[in-house]
Amino acid sequence: MMIILQVEVAVINSDELVATLEYWQLSGIDVLSGDSLEYSGLPAFIPVKSGAVAGVGSSFTQNTSPPLPKRAAKTTKPAPTLPKPETLLKSSADEPLIAFVEHKDRPEQLVKLQAVTASCQRCELHLTRKQAVFGVGSPTAPVVFVGEGPGADEDRLGEPFVGDSGKLLDKMFHSIGFKREDIYIANVVKCRPPGNRNPLHAEIALCQNYLIDQLQIIRPKAIFCLGKFALLCLLGYDGPVGKARGQSFSWRGIPVIASFHPAYYLRTPSKKNAGWQDLLKLQKLLQELDK
Ligand code: URA
Repeated sequence: MMIILQVEVAVINSDELVATLEYWQLSGIDVLSGDSLEYSGLPAFIPVKSGAVAGVGSSFTQNTSPPLPKRAAKTTKPAPTLPKPETLLKSSADEPLIAFVEHKDRPEQLVKLQAVTASCQRCELHLTRKQAVFGVGSPTAPVVFVGEGPGADEDRLGEPFVGDSGKLLDKMFHSIGFKREDIYIANVVKCRPPGNRNPLHAEIALCQNYLIDQLQIIRPKAIFCLGKFALLCLLGYDGPVGKARGQSFSWRGIPVIASFHPAYYLRTPSKKNAGWQDLLKLQKLLQELDK
């Protein structure tokens, strides 16, 4: 029996196309021809509409067309770890928080979790990372800033936001009186997507529990989402960041502020004022919560 994976077609540009094909190949998917892909881990052929690439949200149906030519099975690749469609990304906002972790226990809990991420092989990003980039800051931080994923500098140094975006982020939170060691910074995915492409939904889904556990251990008073992937991972929000700004969100009872990613201000400096407004909102929120 052959199975066809019918795919929802994602909007794609050439960078995403190349990155996605690289990712699929790392996952054991071989490109057979211009418009079809063979996935060596399953008896499946994955047809791709021309000019587009499969995204998440796929569904399985029976194939009635004649079989495509098969390649010899490969034995050297690790078993693919792509999640099944039903395990794909969903909002993590509505579950209850786990029991309160005492302040004194938080550093140890975070160190243990970091050790798990350091050897994580849940998705193919582990094949190309130099190291997993866990998070940095205070285990009792009042606010956690959530970015997207490590870039080249972070991958090399093992700390989030140490490149150009990070320098700007430092200035941003300095402007409301915070130093790096006062707050906590984490990313949606802990390993660098090759070529700085966007993380795939499947990668976010597989990494999601690490961020959830970080937030549960730290239990900040507020969460500051830097860009669309933080909103997607925590809230399941898949719309424009500009529309999310100004709306009220919460994650497991913790208020969430939606804001742009600092890389956006590097590309569009005229938008920096929006980030400044969001930081003032955070400052006000924290002051109110401290009353
Ligand atoms: N961008 C991110 O989202 N995270 C980093 O750690 C660096 C750049």
